[in-house]
Amino acid sequence: MDQLINKRIVVGITGGIAAYKGAELVRRLKEAGAEVRVVMTPAATQFITPLTLQALSGQPVHVELLDATEESAMGHITLTRWADAVVVAPASADFMAKLAHGLAGDLLSTLCLASRAPLLLAPAMNSAMWENPATQANSQLLRERGVRLLGPADGGQACGEIGPGRMLEPPAIAAAVAQTFSSGALQGKTLLMTAGPTREAIDPVRFISNRSSGKMGYAVAQAAQEAGARVVLVSGPTALAPPARVERVVVESAAEMHAAVAARVAEADIFIGAAAVADYTTASAPHKIKKKEPRMTLELERTLDIVALVARRSPRPFTVAFAAETEALLEHAQEKLHAKNLDMVVANWVGRPGLGFDSDDNALTVLWRDGGVDWPAAGKIALARQLISLIAERYHAQHTS
Ligand code: PMT
Repeated sequence: MDQLINKRIVVGITGGIAAYKGAELVRRLKEAGAEVRVVMTPAATQFITPLTLQALSGQPVHVELLDATEESAMGHITLTRWADAVVVAPASADFMAKLAHGLAGDLLSTLCLASRAPLLLAPAMNSAMWENPATQANSQLLRERGVRLLGPADGGQACGEIGPGRMLEPPAIAAAVAQTFSSGALQGKTLLMTAGPTREAIDPVRFISNRSSGKMGYAVAQAAQEAGARVVLVSGPTALAPPARVERVVVESAAEMHAAVAARVAEADIFIGAAAVADYTTASAPHKIKKKEPRMTLELERTLDIVALVARRSPRPFTVAFAAETEALLEHAQEKLHAKNLDMVVANWVGRPGLGFDSDDNALTVLWRDGGVDWPAAGKIALARQLISLIAERYHAQHTS
């Protein structure tokens, strides 16, 4: 996160149980080289003390809008001019409603209204509050005005409910702030992707898997990072080291990969499914199966479709899937584009010597609703860079039309 070195970040904290994570966010930003000033709403001080944040930021914490002493030193206008970016984490439903309607009754909302710096919000609230049409309308309005919403994530909440509304973890928020300062075709975007094979356990020592090495997916992750994206790579077992500055989440089975994507998809602007996910799994025997019988039968069950999970969200990320084919490549790829409701499908012949699975080269046919392109055999990293620049172009075309 070199982009944060010497950057001046205002961290806003509003009143909510996730306010304590603001301390971790301040620490992460400072560690990455940023200068940090903290502004809290009065409600936030009920959840975490200004003293804690003062100790972590090394600066006085600002709470009151009309504090004469603070105003002369670092008031809301001074702070606004000082900031390279403002990140509010957690952002409560109430705070988002205020921002959407231009209310400025406290220091933090006044500062956000007066600021021309990039504004990022990490919503955190009960899932029913997040799903309420009022909050959804406010979120949409804020997005349309260029505010970047980070999450929320799905999962267990302090109130005991399970669903969307959890604040993203501080490392993910800090990475998103860092991305605001990078340049490139995917600057400021979060790209979530899968790569590598999955392993479906038969017993504690055996599994069903496939020939994917992860090379193609890792090359795509590297190219996306180079283009300025924050990249979260959910990877099945491979021998590869993660590309620099890519956040890797290692999983084993299709079910684990599905859960890892489900937990992070809310952060994503773009999703790419490059993993060779098992289509079928089986229940693992608790102990090593003994070779007593001359024959044995494994009962297989369909796995959950990860790309389908992503593609049916609303709003959803720009969704791209790879398709590995051994015959009728175009026909099958077209079928997947429509059946999986994709924005783009990247088809590759597999089974040809020197291309596809576990080789350094590949040849790709990329299709989208009203177009397509063929790329002849080349190194995976070169193809990955071509692919990322095409995805960036189509992503931006979709978001400006
Ligand atoms: O890893 P390498 O050795 O470099 O090889 C690269 C590759 C051949 C593995 C890669 O380029 C590739 O083609 N990946 C997709 C392989 C695949 O599983 O294709 P598919 O046609 O079976 O699946 C289509 C899409 O659905 C894929 O995006 C897949 O990730 C996704 N899928 C499949 C099953 C499932 N349960 N969930 C999914 O999301």
